[in-house]
Amino acid sequence: MAALADRTIYASDAGDIGFHGTCVDALCDATGDGGAACQIGGLVFPPEKTLVAAIGPMPMMNATRKQAARLGIPRQVSLEERMACGIGVCLVWSCKTRSDEPRQPGHHARCCVDGPVFRAEDVVWD
Ligand code: FES
Repeated sequence: MAALADRTIYASDAGDIGFHGTCVDALCDATGDGGAACQIGGLVFPPEKTLVAAIGPMPMMNATRKQAARLGIPRQVSLEERMACGIGVCLVWSCKTRSDEPRQPGHHARCCVDGPVFRAEDVVWD
């Protein structure tokens, strides 16, 4: 991540590296209102030049994307679960997504071929 980003925030439960707490804690601790800047772990970030990339348990990613939305930070989630075929034919692991089609409020995307990374706002979480 350090090779791809100007700055990277790490979080650890033990506090031995980066923010002391979970990534959700770090975002909950952040200040900002979706405006010009937010502050995470003492560092100031322009939200439009920041990305929250989450991977892990669904409840954590759900909480992370909510906090990132509060701060106006673009967010992506990687929905990786056990996959059977991995080529899009068995439909074992799919997620409900919002659709741009006005007559179709949503459809199911196959995480193996349509993802696994999605913009968090494109996923139906409820
Ligand atoms: S794992 Fe079979 S459709 Fe995705």
